[in-house]
Amino acid sequence: MLDIDYIREEFPITKKCFQVYGSTEPKNLIYLDHGASTHPCSTVLNKYIDFIKNYYSNVHRGKHYLSMISTELFDRVYETIFKYINASKPDNAIVLTANTTSALDMTAWLMKDYEGITLVSLMEHHSNDLPHRHRGETLHFGVNKDGTLDMYDLEHKLAKHKVKLVAVTGASNVTGTINDIHKIAELAHKHGARILVDAAQILAHKQIDVKPNDDPGHIDFLAAAGHKAYAPFGSAFLFGPREVLDRV
Ligand SMILES: Cc1ncc(COP(=O)(O)O)c(C=O)c1O
Repeated sequence: MLDIDYIREEFPITKKCFQVYGSTEPKNLIYLDHGASTHPCSTVLNKYIDFIKNYYSNVHRGKHYLSMISTELFDRVYETIFKYINASKPDNAIVLTANTTSALDMTAWLMKDYEGITLVSLMEHHSNDLPHRHRGETLHFGVNKDGTLDMYDLEHKLAKHKVKLVAVTGASNVTGTINDIHKIAELAHKHGARILVDAAQILAHKQIDVKPNDDPGHIDFLAAAGHKAYAPFGSAFLFGPREVLDRV
């Protein structure tokens, strides 16, 4: 059973009271929009405040004590992400972005000069659909009546067209359907395409493993945001092949 008092303790904002319709007394916040953005829990909040209060300084631009500490902590973020998604160096890299949308858009931009089309699932959030349409030719593959991806349609289109990139979400933000991203990666690679996974909705809910580059189920690009996983806003990233990301 959920321990609501413990959760309210961990998420201080939920202790706030607001005036609501139908009640004369203000009521505790009930927040159901975590799919869009989460509040930081106390552990994260305290760490953040501690950093701003005690160490904050310019990153990569100073030689004084605080700047060195801030730079060291900032650089550690890359290592943390590498470890969290079980990624390997040196063939891969990570770019920090403002949100998932900018990471997905960056991938579309980086891939725009490669030969072939982008195959986008019909399950995508607009953030993983519109950037691809904007940057070049796209085709969509379908969703079955039960809300799962139509893998036959995907394989059929992979075989029929010269596809450079398959853009697919790890989990639907509408239905919660979780996709087998490694199976999709295998299919994409079999047909000479790369895969881009929108991990916005799985980052906080599922262990992510991008797998080694020579594994057929390897995830080539992965975009996600900390602001949907209990970190403050403006903390997102794009993981991808170094040779492609070096163009950023
Ligand atoms: C599946 C999915 N992808 C992308 C996004 C966009 O994320 P961001 O707000 O980090 O740009 C969302 C936002 O809700 C989402 O649910």
